[in-house]
This record gives sequence, structure tokens and C-alpha cells, in this order.
Amino acid sequence: MSQSQIKVGRVDLKNPLIAGSAEHLIDADGVRRALHTGVGAVVVKSTNRSEAARDQLQRAEYMLLDENWRSIPWNAQAPANAFVACRSGLTPQSFDAWLDQTAQLDREAKMLESYTVASLIFDEIDSTVQMARQVEQAGIRVLELNIGTPYASQAAKGAVSTELEPRRVTEIVAAVRGAVSLPLWVKITGQSERVPELADAASQAGGEAIVMAGRLLGLIPDVDTFEPMLGTTLGVGGFWNLPLTCQWLALARTRLGADKPLIATNGAQSGLDIARMMLAGAFAVQMSSPVMLRGFELLSQALSEFESYLAEKKISAPELIGRAADSRKTFAAMPLRKDNWRNYIPSA
Ligand SMILES: Cc1cc2nc3c(=O)[nH]c(=O)nc-3n(C[C@H](O)[C@H](O)[C@H](O)COP(=O)(O)O)c2cc1C
Repeated sequence: MSQSQIKVGRVDLKNPLIAGSAEHLIDADGVRRALHTGVGAVVVKSTNRSEAARDQLQRAEYMLLDENWRSIPWNAQAPANAFVACRSGLTPQSFDAWLDQTAQLDREAKMLESYTVASLIFDEIDSTVQMARQVEQAGIRVLELNIGTPYASQAAKGAVSTELEPRRVTEIVAAVRGAVSLPLWVKITGQSERVPELADAASQAGGEAIVMAGRLLGLIPDVDTFEPMLGTTLGVGGFWNLPLTCQWLALARTRLGADKPLIATNGAQSGLDIARMMLAGAFAVQMSSPVMLRGFELLSQALSEFESYLAEKKISAPELIGRAADSRKTFAAMPLRKDNWRNYIPSA
């Protein structure tokens, strides 16, 4: 058995790296290129029945920012601290075309011992349940249900949703769970102080893995034009979000129990980041915007860095899960370091 293999509920992944949903996974060619990097799974660009959500893609804009909040060129040579700010929408394909393509790509993934995961963005219960049934009937093996896009407050009413109430999470996930029997992963918002509670609600209602946590809304004022960058509130995330993702993972692990699979998203861009997120409690790790920016090779590079790390540490991927989370101590349990703070202030 390979050191990298991992079990996420009923799904056996050949390794914990998942290509997460974004624009580079709209076209079949993009999904194929991601699958051929050797990742454990690829989550395709999401869909739902909302025309407004489709329209939003055609109004989407993307930018890359540096540490001085300046726009920098969008290319693979961008520094590691560059991050993506954007407005996005859902796949431009019709639901039927998306479904056929995803089913075909999941059959192809099977030959590569990988998965092409369908992704639905919740808009309302009846149509989501109906689409989930069609995903299952099409033979697709895993469904990810995103109930926490960052954009609900900004988008047209009913286009997408950012579920912030555990009660609503229970209602939505239970409805979908009741309708289909395929493995169901639920992706939740990071825009809440209740992320572990939302994860718990999603898990208890039948989510077999909780993908956490979605990007945040942010506003970046432009000092030259006095306007917000790209004219409005944007979805933001990047390498700087890794500690927050890890904190949510650790808290969710404590709340849900070590046996409940968590999947990390938001802030991973290397093989060592996969390890960091697993040490915080993730069973698998998604990588999205860095791949859209730097290309599919980033996935193979991250995978080989992760595999070298496992070999060097003589450890298997499952043995990493939650190690850092479980060794957290209280502040009071820390050793006394009298007047240590003096070493961290400007010298006279
Ligand atoms: C341009 C763009 C489009 C995205 N589209 C989707 C989507 O259709 N469905 C979805 O579940 N997440 C979508 N996401 C969210 C990503 O899958 C991911 O959760 C988020 O970007 C944080 O992870 P990262 O740091 O690896 O990018 C999108 C993100 C970006 C930047």
C-alpha cells in the first residue's frame, strides 16, 4: 500500500491532494489535465439551476495582488505571497451538458484510480435535490455540495447561498442526503465564527466529509482611484489564510471527533501545505486558485513534494492527520518565560 493512500469516508483516494473547483475545471480538457497530474480527485466547476449564477460568470473579474496590495501580472512566475481576489459565477454550460461531461470525466478518472467529483452550489432545496438525484443516476461516484460560497450577499437574490445557520445546514444536507446514497461532501463557509458548529450540523445531517472553509469577502481600496479594486466587494483568499483554515480544522476535529473526515480548502499551494493542513486535522486537501494561476503542473509538484516529505519523515499520510491539532496546549500550560516580551520590542 502506498504511503499516500487515504480513506475519506467511503472514498479511497490514492493520495490526499484534490484539485478544487474553479474556472480551470470548466472545460473537459482542464479536468483531464488535472486528473493526469496524479491527484486523488478533481472537483469540477460548480453548477445549479440559477441563470443569474451563470450570468455572474460572464461578469466575473480576477486580479492578483502582492503584499503591498498592488495589482501584479497574472502568471506562473508570481511570488508565493501573491493572492487572487475576484468575483466569480457558475459554469456557463447547461446542466445537462455539465452532467454528461462530468459523468464521462468520472469514467475516465476511474481508469486513473481517481475521481471526478460533481459540485452543486445550493440555491434552493427542490432543484438541488433533483440535481443531486441526476448526478447519482448519471453514475458519478461522489457529490460535493457547496452551501457556503462567499457571494450570496452580493449576487442576485437566490443565485447562490452562504448558509450561516446550523439549523438551515441541517435542513439542506438532510434533504439531499435523503435523496441520494452516493458519498456526499459538504463545503461550508469560512465567513462565520460558527464554522465548527456548521461542520457539526452538516456532518450529523449526513455529510460524509466536510470541506472547510470557503473564501471570505473583502474590500481592497485603490489609493489611486479612491474606488474599491474591481469596483466592488470581492472573494479573497490566499496563502495568508492557511493558519485560519488550520484553526478551523483543529476546532472541527475536536467538535466532530477524530473519525469524521474533514477536507481542507483555502490557502494550500505546496506539498508541505498539504502536510500542514493534515497535521491540523484534514484527511485530504484541496488546491484551487493557485492552480488556476500557476497551471496544472503545480499539482504534480505539490504531490511530489508531499511524497518526499512522507518518505523523509518515514510516515504515511493517515498518520499525519490531526497530530498538531491534538497536541495543542492551553496558554496556561506553557512554560514560564519571565520578561521574554522584552526581546520583541524596539531596542533603545
Ligand atoms: C475564481 C474562483 C472560482 C471558484 N469557483 C468555485 C466553484 O465554482 N465552486 C466551488 O465550490 N468553489 C469555487 N471556488 C472556491 C475554491 O474551490 C476554493 O474553495 C477557494 O478558492 C479556496 O481555496 P484555494 O486557496 O485553494 O484557492 C472558486 C475560487 C476561485 C478563486
